[in-house]
Amino acid sequence: MKQTKKKIEFDKKFYIKWMVIAMTAIWAAIAAVWLSMHNWDAEESMKAVARAFTEQPAETEQQAPAEEEAPVKDEQTATEETEQPETQPEEQPEEEAAPKDATVYPDIDQLPAEPTVVNGILLANKQHPLPETYAPGENAEARAAFDSMAQAAAEDGLQLVAFSTYRAFDRQKQLYEGYVAKDGQAAADRYSARPGFSEHQTGLAFDIGEAGQEQHWASASFGDTAGGKWVKENAHNYGFILRYPEGKEQITGYMHESWHFRYVGKEAATAIYKQNLTLEEYLGI
Ligand code: DAL
Ligand code: ZN
Repeated sequence: MKQTKKKIEFDKKFYIKWMVIAMTAIWAAIAAVWLSMHNWDAEESMKAVARAFTEQPAETEQQAPAEEEAPVKDEQTATEETEQPETQPEEQPEEEAAPKDATVYPDIDQLPAEPTVVNGILLANKQHPLPETYAPGENAEARAAFDSMAQAAAEDGLQLVAFSTYRAFDRQKQLYEGYVAKDGQAAADRYSARPGFSEHQTGLAFDIGEAGQEQHWASASFGDTAGGKWVKENAHNYGFILRYPEGKEQITGYMHESWHFRYVGKEAATAIYKQNLTLEEYLGI
């Protein structure tokens, strides 16, 4: 029994002894490897041991920032960069569209087959000609509206006369050619439409004057007479507009005509009058 106890104690000591030796050998081997990894520099090896236990793994530290995030330098710089990108987009010199000039005729070989109607309004100007065959005659609705207006003017002591209304293509051709012969084409083009381009061919244009005041017919001076002023201020109530107002030649295509009125209906005429527009501006063309 004593013998067995001694044997057990011996085995235990033996076992512990070799365990200590084995552990020492393992640690010695690890230390040797660690030292060899740090050029056998004991101090550097110790620092490396300390770093290994206190610092974040190198991989985490060097993680690349997310692609969309620019590295922030300092607050001021970051703000500036946000507001003012370093690379300014190159300024494209904006090509200014040449202003439309309605006095210029388009380069066309033939008149259209159909007239132009915009928002229910028949349009005739230098950019929108009529077919040569378009021959509706004087518009009955426009004539009735003129008669109502003339009656109202008569009550104010003014005898209005429509001295030229519907003009067929051939009549316009004759007139235009006469004006070109008299004043030259450039001058004639400012006050007389070429055949196919006249609003008179629509049957909706009324040249208005006063009876007994023929010297002012088809003259700018009509605008200064009592009759001219009355029509200018009241025509919209009967569906007519002053078609070629002063200072709008580049839009309408023609110089001011104080006598030329166009029937468009009361609603459009009132809007055009109140907003001081031309027909082209009202239609947005
Ligand atoms: N006097 C206008 C512009 C015409 O001839 O139709
Ligand atoms: Zn006219």
